[in-house]
Amino acid sequence: MANRIRLAACIAAGTVSFVASSFSVSAIAASASAAPVKAEQVCATCHGKDGSSPIDPSYPRLAGQHQDYLRRALLDYQGGARKNAIMAAQAKLLSKQEVNELAAYYSQLPGQLGIRR
Ligand code: HEC
Repeated sequence: MANRIRLAACIAAGTVSFVASSFSVSAIAASASAAPVKAEQVCATCHGKDGSSPIDPSYPRLAGQHQDYLRRALLDYQGGARKNAIMAAQAKLLSKQEVNELAAYYSQLPGQLGIRR
């Protein structure tokens, strides 16, 4: 009987530590930038998988663009200072953190927009 209780306690402890470890894994994942996933799942549809091969010439390249420019553009679409129906709809779905992370992400991708110094 005592053995059975000990076993049950072990299993319970095991479950607790498993739950605890899966929590810490997701906490680590949440602290890393979500931009690569978002970029691939959403933005790539129009701006291309690499941020540099848009589906239409009127769709800008993002890869290699300055971070503060990309950030400003997204914030302006959100606030209405820059008007474009397609991008306004996209930008409104983004949190401030996602805007920052996406701007950082695309600015770091190799692009054809300028010479890196
Ligand atoms: C349905 C197509 C579509 C999707 C999806 C889309 N975009 Fe765009 N994006 C556009 C178009 C079209 C423009 C050009 C709009 C304009 O003329 O202002 C644009 C412009 C931009 C600009 C301004 C670039 C510049 O050079 O001025 C940024 C930044 C941008 N998009 C980021 C994103 C990000 C980040 C995502 C994903 C969250 C995204 N876009 C998803 C179509 C799209």
